[in-house]
Amino acid sequence: MCGIIGYAGHRPAVTVVIEGLKRLEYRGYDSAGVAFVQNKCLETVRSEGKLERLEQKLSRCDPYLATTGMGHTRWATHGLPNEQNAHPHQDQSGRLALVHNGIIENYLSLKDQLEQEGVEFQSETDTEVLVQLIGWHMHKDGLSLQRAISRALEQVEGAYALAVFSTDNPDQLWAVRNSSPLLLGVGQGENFVASDIPAFLNYTREVVFLDDHELVLIQPHSWQVYDSRNLEPVTKAPEHITWDVQSAQKSGYKHFMLKEILEQPQVIRDCLAGRIDRDTRKVVLKELEGWEVPTRVHIVACGTSFHAGLWAKYYFERWSGLSVQVDIASEFRYREPILKPGELVVVISQSGETADTLAGLRIAREKKVPVLGICNVLGSTVARESDLVLYTQAGPEISVASTKAMCSQMVALILLTLYWGQAKGTVSSDFSSKALKELESLPELMQAGIPGMHEQARSLARKYSVARSFFFLGRGENYPLALEGALKLKEISYIHAEGYAAGEMKHGPIALIDQDFPTFALVTDNDLLQKLQSNLQEVQARGGPVIALTSPGVEIRVADRWEVPKVWSQLAGFFILPALQLFAYEMAVYLGKDVDQPRNLAKSVTVE
Ligand code: M6R
Repeated sequence: MCGIIGYAGHRPAVTVVIEGLKRLEYRGYDSAGVAFVQNKCLETVRSEGKLERLEQKLSRCDPYLATTGMGHTRWATHGLPNEQNAHPHQDQSGRLALVHNGIIENYLSLKDQLEQEGVEFQSETDTEVLVQLIGWHMHKDGLSLQRAISRALEQVEGAYALAVFSTDNPDQLWAVRNSSPLLLGVGQGENFVASDIPAFLNYTREVVFLDDHELVLIQPHSWQVYDSRNLEPVTKAPEHITWDVQSAQKSGYKHFMLKEILEQPQVIRDCLAGRIDRDTRKVVLKELEGWEVPTRVHIVACGTSFHAGLWAKYYFERWSGLSVQVDIASEFRYREPILKPGELVVVISQSGETADTLAGLRIAREKKVPVLGICNVLGSTVARESDLVLYTQAGPEISVASTKAMCSQMVALILLTLYWGQAKGTVSSDFSSKALKELESLPELMQAGIPGMHEQARSLARKYSVARSFFFLGRGENYPLALEGALKLKEISYIHAEGYAAGEMKHGPIALIDQDFPTFALVTDNDLLQKLQSNLQEVQARGGPVIALTSPGVEIRVADRWEVPKVWSQLAGFFILPALQLFAYEMAVYLGKDVDQPRNLAKSVTVE
């Protein structure tokens, strides 16, 4: 769970690498480092903490002659997040430097073998084993760097995207991947490798998506991909990326999270784009053409994406009459799920790189059940390994707390529900056309409603900022949103929060209620409204303050009523979601927390 970048070109490499690392910081930020060759000497500069610390260190040396370099921003998995364990790591000869994202599972046995051969290690990391192993094959077996990489990888078990260079050929940089993301950026007189596109988007939009076991050599004026196992050349072609570089930056907002929350109206438009037939008023999902409606759906995801899947279950059952099982991926992968012919596994992932979700995907494929990947990142592993892909088209999401991605997943899932409902005849054309009209009207309603919601969120966050715990309650399709509201609050403000199905309160949790334990209730106009109102009376009878997030016309007497703008009741979730996000955001800002990079978390969880 780290970000890597490598550069070979004509510019000062360290400047390019640092700029790239800033755009990759969302992948990890507990330490960082760079390596470059200057005057035939390999230099590495590393630092604990965020990139600013590394930049301060670099300002004390003069690394500006080097035109080849690599960098790394780390989220520790093996060894403490300190300077000694920060990447790049060097081999014993001091001629090789390497950066790595992933986990080498058999590193301890490899380390033992190398130590017996006299190799001395400088860090506690699994990564150092890689560079020492490559160096050892070069030294002991007299192999070229390319062959030594290939030989070392034969011995390695685990996931990696790595970049490595040697002082012998300072213009050449090698990079290879297996189960961790790695892309090649093709420029004019310069080439890049990186974990993600924004790292080099300022310099090129021509991207080659590397597959597992692909090894690439970049030099300023050329690049070539090889199969890392047999070193046969592989033919690859660049794809043109149309992302705006601004969209990967904050556009003037204080935090990416706020920017991304406010982008949701556009996200809905983008996800709907091209997916509604203007004449027939039906959903068109070209990606699914030729595929039968499944007999049963298994949704597999983590975190916020799991909540989107759980929310969609209510619609799949209600509108398309489909039986749906929703699983947390880390559970699904170790259960013995019963998957039958005719069924479909739907994996949902913003990043498309979440390790547990990928494991779930692979189990489905092993069991010969097709997989539909719903993801945001173009060319991600989920996208490449799924039989079918529905992109959510939300644009890059940088803040660790996922916001706009969930909104886009909800749109994609609603479209899928209607698509299958149309095919099965469980939704009439009138209903489908009404639902689509309401969906299309959402962006404008949100655009108009969000500023008022933001104000309300700010004042409620201040009022309740002394609370140390919150309940988030909902019923029906609001229950998954209650889970999401609690997750958002805890992950960025570090306030304890529990999401519950409101009907569960009487089975235990209500014992916690007193005047210092507020409850955030999602009270929109659905079939379970009266039942939820009774649950809230029980909370209030025990002195618990209630904030009711509700829609116009809903009668409710509580400590704080927060009315979201009027919308078709079936789609109320599209207002509940940003309200919850804004509340968590304002709370974290008020409490002075690091909103975009909360402690102990990383954006993309590519390890188990
Ligand atoms: O990229 P994914 O959607 O697969 O990520 C899943 C979770 O790691 C992610 O949603 C996480 O829970 C976020 N920090 C929530 O804000």
